[in-house]
Amino acid sequence: MNGADLTLTDYTSRQLRNLCTQAGFDNTDTPAALLRELLGAAGERKLSEPPLWPSDVADDATPVEFSYALDDGGDRAVRILGETVARSPSPTANIAAARQFLDTVVERHGCTADRFEAVQDLFLPERPQGKFALWFSLIFRRQGPPRLKVYFNPDVRGPERNRELVAEGLRRLGMDNAYELAATHGLRRGERDRFSFFALDLDDSPLSRVKLYISHDAATAEDVTHCARAVNGVDPAQIEDFCALLGGGTRRFTGRPLISSYSFVEADFDRPGNYSLYLPIRDYVPDDETARSRVRSFLAGHGVDQTNLDRALGAVSDRSLAERAGLIAHVSLRVGSFGSGTTIYLSSEAYGGTPPTATGNWQGSSAAEMDTVSAPFADSPAGG
Ligand code: TRP
Repeated sequence: MNGADLTLTDYTSRQLRNLCTQAGFDNTDTPAALLRELLGAAGERKLSEPPLWPSDVADDATPVEFSYALDDGGDRAVRILGETVARSPSPTANIAAARQFLDTVVERHGCTADRFEAVQDLFLPERPQGKFALWFSLIFRRQGPPRLKVYFNPDVRGPERNRELVAEGLRRLGMDNAYELAATHGLRRGERDRFSFFALDLDDSPLSRVKLYISHDAATAEDVTHCARAVNGVDPAQIEDFCALLGGGTRRFTGRPLISSYSFVEADFDRPGNYSLYLPIRDYVPDDETARSRVRSFLAGHGVDQTNLDRALGAVSDRSLAERAGLIAHVSLRVGSFGSGTTIYLSSEAYGGTPPTATGNWQGSSAAEMDTVSAPFADSPAGG
């Protein structure tokens, strides 16, 4: 059977089940069922049809992206980041569909929507602007129920209100000091530092987090080590190594930006417990083979078994890694008191993967190479 005959849900749930199996989970039915629900109408479409909505979750408009979190302690989590798209999509209709998905999950898996309720009228206006209004992440581990996280867009009322929305969101959650802290360390370069996501864990636990993401246009490793200093006990050399190794010696990240995030937990809203740095590696490599070898070296330095990476890659794709970049979309480093680790973000590539022109930042790529890449769907694998 040709891959194009599959629906988006068929295709991506197979990838998700493979990933969960590789992570050693017995139950792959719950993750697959939640993914189906999350994708909704968009998931019912055949891969031979164009995407229902130009989701910004992934470069090729696939409304889901996978990630594999490797805790330094040895624990593993499989996660999906996704956008729910309405059957007749529009920014407003998508919010309604997303809220419906949220209600279902909250009811079935016993998450709490209290924090969501506290800020939703701020972040979900009648006429949403920007690239998205509401995204979800679902986090699966071997033990315990799935966990849910929501992402809001600080640009949803226009880019000029970016900071104001975040400040007000934090105020409503009783976290007045958090804004100052994030701003002092994370917004030091004027317009080039911007809030990109405002995220909430929706589980009912003292360790459930509020996360602020800041994207840093054209930043250097030194710029982001300043951001990391907001968190106690962070070793700046660790951040520098991460940038040097995964960036392959890139000095200034002028492609897709480096992103910082600060995690606050209810037990201590005055200071972020963790800092994470996200590096969009697909813009800084000629192909995924190069990305793989950099990630392998990094994991080796952290004592993480490197076979994890190859298993995760094999779970989502069987294409040649040397063909192009984009399968490994981001790599993130997490440091701080709630535990350290590395997370690898993997594109589904259901709609063909990162278009070659989108990785134009890679200095080594020539126009000639770009011309040889096939059209979307032409190489959609036939389901493994
Ligand atoms: N596709 C968007 C980007 O690359 C949003 C996104 C998806 C993202 N997954 C991410 C951003 C992981 C940071 C980290 O920017």
